[in-house]
Amino acid sequence: MKIGIDQISFYTSQYFLDLKTLAKARGVDPDKYRVGIGQSRMGIPPPDEDIVTMAASAAFRLKERGALDGVENLLLATESGIDQSKAAGLFVHGLLGLPSRCRVVELKQACYSATAALRMAMGLVAMKPQSKVLIIASDVARYELDSPGESTQGCGAVAFTISANPRLVAIDPESGFYADDVMDFWRPNYLSEAQVDGKYSTLIYIKALKEAWKQYAEESGRSLDDFARFCYHIPFTRMAAKAHQKLARGISDEELEQVIGESLIYSREAGNCYSASLYVGITSLFDNCAEDLSGRRIGLYSYGSGCVGEFFSGVVQSGYRTALLKEVHQELLAGRTELTFQQYEDIYNYGIPTDGGEHVFAQYCTGPFRFAGIEAHKRIYESV
Ligand code: CAA
Repeated sequence: MKIGIDQISFYTSQYFLDLKTLAKARGVDPDKYRVGIGQSRMGIPPPDEDIVTMAASAAFRLKERGALDGVENLLLATESGIDQSKAAGLFVHGLLGLPSRCRVVELKQACYSATAALRMAMGLVAMKPQSKVLIIASDVARYELDSPGESTQGCGAVAFTISANPRLVAIDPESGFYADDVMDFWRPNYLSEAQVDGKYSTLIYIKALKEAWKQYAEESGRSLDDFARFCYHIPFTRMAAKAHQKLARGISDEELEQVIGESLIYSREAGNCYSASLYVGITSLFDNCAEDLSGRRIGLYSYGSGCVGEFFSGVVQSGYRTALLKEVHQELLAGRTELTFQQYEDIYNYGIPTDGGEHVFAQYCTGPFRFAGIEAHKRIYESV
């Protein structure tokens, strides 16, 4: 039985900061961000947008198409959780009006957890093939102001369903994975900005890739030539390019662009979406690839600092193009509002009130849902 990704939907904030603006403010050559980091813009969530509203907004587009009928499990992956106890997915469950016969849980392992969710979902569907699992990866990437990580911030969510006989991509059983107890990127409970040993994190990302690929290749007997395209975890697009160059030694710039180029387009615009980043890459590939990939195999690399890496793959299903939300995604990216540098810093410095009082948030432009306020430490969400 084929099991894999049936439908996929991407959402990011309606606001962005152009990295040329950031470069000017920080006195940096804009080409460092455009070429050296490989990013153009970063999605910035206004005060009434958070991982819950982004997750619900991404999944709402699937609900509108009836793609959530039969969902019995909602697995929400995030690095930027909003509560130490309650799963963010339960707020999303409520906003989407999902049936009460549904398991809901939150998963954490930095940027990797959506891939753990995918593996769990495949097992759940194998046990009950008529059921579906909704996975949502949703994150806000936030580093200290004027730090090396600042230009790699971003935000976004990807919602995707796992089912038998999937419309988009059947996931192969073979997989290579790797774990190591390292401190390359982490965020203690009392901090809202990630701590990162930047250069070290890029080295560990590559080490985990090499180890994961080695196991995958041994298990599957496949070589790099067996793949039409590759999608990587994308903290910034140059990282994905460097990763592929490490696997495919001596690859030309043209070949590199051909095998990963389409997967990087959305991330260049939205910035790092942590747990969603690999899945933003898959969405970007499907939406932007002019070549029909039906029947072709794609290689996928998921990485979460701390660290866990996994290389896996899937075969693109014939007719996949009819199941895409390409226009929705492209309209969203084209319709965003640009922030000034001052607006960016004001939003960055705006803190969620923690005094337990009653607070109503100003309404910004969001997707179908917004974080309306907070009362007695309870977050209040509403439909727009
Ligand atoms: N024109 C063109 N290129 C330029 C340039 C210019 N004017 N100025 C600099 N560059 C190039 C540099 O040569 C460099 O290229 P190489 O990497 O090929 O050498 C590139 O731009 C970046 O420059 P620096 O190395 O000087 O950048 P930095 O040290 O200021 O920051 C970083 C880089 C450490 C990765 C930083 O962005 C960071 O800390 N990011 C957050 C951590 C991160 O994303 N890590 C990735 C792996 S971990 C992971 O994947 C999990 C996750 O999501 C966080």
